[in-house]
Amino acid sequence: MSQVFEPNREFSKNARIKNMCEYKELRLQAEEDFEGYWDKLAKEKIDWFEPYDTVLDESNAPFYSWFNGGKLNVTHQCLGRHLKTRKNKAAIIWEGEDGKKRIITYLQLYYRVNRLANLMKNQFNIKKGDRVVLYLPMIPEAAFAMLACAKIGAVHSIVFGGFSAEALRDRVIDADAKLVITADGAFRRGQPYMLKPVVDEALKEGCECCKKVLIVQRNFEDIDYVPGRDYVYNEMIMNESQHCDPEPMDSEDPLFLLYTSGSTGKPKGVQHSSAGYILWAQYTMEHVFDVKENDTFWCTADVGWITGHTYIVYGPLAMGATTIMYEGVPTFPDVGRWWKMIEEHRVNQFYTAPTAIRLLHKLGADEPKKYDLSSLQVLGTVGEPINPDAWMWYYNEIGGGNCSIVDTWWQTETGGHMITPLPGATPIKPGSATFPLPGIMAEIIDEEGNPTPKGEKGFLCITKPWPSMIRNIWGDSERFVKSYFGDCKKDGKPVYFSGDGAMYDDDGYIVITGRTDDVINVSGHRLGTAEIEAVLAHHSNVAEVAVAGKPDDIKGEGIFAYIVLKGEDSIGEEIEMIQELNKLIIKEIGNIAKLDDILFVPGLPKTRSGKIMRRILRSIAKGEAITQDTSTLEDPSIVTTIEDLFKR
Ligand code: WT7
Repeated sequence: MSQVFEPNREFSKNARIKNMCEYKELRLQAEEDFEGYWDKLAKEKIDWFEPYDTVLDESNAPFYSWFNGGKLNVTHQCLGRHLKTRKNKAAIIWEGEDGKKRIITYLQLYYRVNRLANLMKNQFNIKKGDRVVLYLPMIPEAAFAMLACAKIGAVHSIVFGGFSAEALRDRVIDADAKLVITADGAFRRGQPYMLKPVVDEALKEGCECCKKVLIVQRNFEDIDYVPGRDYVYNEMIMNESQHCDPEPMDSEDPLFLLYTSGSTGKPKGVQHSSAGYILWAQYTMEHVFDVKENDTFWCTADVGWITGHTYIVYGPLAMGATTIMYEGVPTFPDVGRWWKMIEEHRVNQFYTAPTAIRLLHKLGADEPKKYDLSSLQVLGTVGEPINPDAWMWYYNEIGGGNCSIVDTWWQTETGGHMITPLPGATPIKPGSATFPLPGIMAEIIDEEGNPTPKGEKGFLCITKPWPSMIRNIWGDSERFVKSYFGDCKKDGKPVYFSGDGAMYDDDGYIVITGRTDDVINVSGHRLGTAEIEAVLAHHSNVAEVAVAGKPDDIKGEGIFAYIVLKGEDSIGEEIEMIQELNKLIIKEIGNIAKLDDILFVPGLPKTRSGKIMRRILRSIAKGEAITQDTSTLEDPSIVTTIEDLFKR
């Protein structure tokens, strides 16, 4: 059994939740009076324009609604209400990869957001409920654009800058977006890179909905402008007024969409609400990172992922904190970049992904020693299970043995943290996300809906709704119900299933064991095998394909493809094929889905009815023993053939 680390005593004294007694007390309150618990939080935390009538409406389950009748605007929660007490406080500290710095105070941010909100309203006729796609690098304008949408009630949908033109196009069309906000490009690894040409390519076909493109000039490289469609932010923004009234929004009005991969079909537009989402963003910021008034908080995610939404922009700003935003890669100009930034900005809470920790450990195990990291108090990780080795290095070398590590388990769909230690209270163990937050009814259950015994894997479910939960899949309610409420039941009632497996250890700590579905987690990014397979199947020489995750030291999982080629004679052209297949992937999805390994096989294991037995392929890729019965396969010998090829 792994070691347990008690929270730092000095830290606990001033923490919001100081010990496990206080934690258990809150849990009990939520269990005894579920609605009362959330009611108290919502009244305490949100500055409502108009009070709500009901806390939770379950009449249309699983389409739950929270705080019905209430009116608010998320930008008032994040900016407007702070002007009384924090107008000159730094809201965003931005650092470009080239070392350039910008500090934006709450008042400045408020004005900038208002100008952009006015620009969208006046120049592009964006109204409440319209969708706006943001395809932006890590520059402050990404936060301005998110908040400007929220100010006028437009629904933003951020597309991560690493996605290709085709992926961007699909998302613009699916959301029926009216406007795209992008940049000429930005800087990465010391070089300028481009985004605008990707937008041009995306909008070439099928995007009639999108008539306008607003471009932020960041790297000032040459780009093409389409007259009547393309506008330059830098030239227009100062002509707009810095005053703009916030649109009063219903609690349940959508705040944003964010596309994420599922086990089948195309990526799904996860829809989040206004009130429930911002409540949980703020509450988890306060309690899980325990940020104090003069602290500096840094989350290294990209705003294109949910972590960036909740813990770079909405959470920190809702609580009136100072948030750091960094444009570039952690290894530029050298592997000490992040540690140098922590020293320089006196960062107090630092939040990153296991894959980054592993990379920086591997490339520079002693690098942190060169910097003063003593300002750090809380270290966070998210996105994938963290291996004890990486955890220990993080704990000792970055945290100096003084900081709690909050291993936060959550998902795009949950909006904010769900299972996580509390830094002043929870005794932590490497590799465990520990316990659910008070009010979050996380349970590990078996196929019958019974709790699994300690040490046994089960399905990680959330058995009661929570305020920041996904509200729908954009345009596909049926898929929403099927994807999240179709697999697990408790007491005969469908409950939210996360797609993850988990178990309780001997002490009742929760250990996440990873996805149980056809989703691969590459460097903390979710990719659906079905999506990748659909792309590979487009190649004229591919007869059949199946994709699985393969363990990878740095990335967590890499992408492993089994390919059956058309025609025997193509075997000699495998090297070329690998290049061609990756070209296809980069074109249709983006660099993040590049294949790590390809195995050309004569056939795939199938049942007599022709269904591919993916579990077998997953086991082979993972190097695990095959436990499934293979005797019912159409051709059982194919399994050993593939295994032999794999071992070579
Ligand atoms: C999936 C969600 C939540 C923001 C980043 C990823 C995995 C997430 C942990 C953790 C083990 C984790 C799960 C989950 N995951 N956090 N602390 N320990 N696994 O968001 O792309 O929606 O992916 O990431 O498998 O289902 P996402």
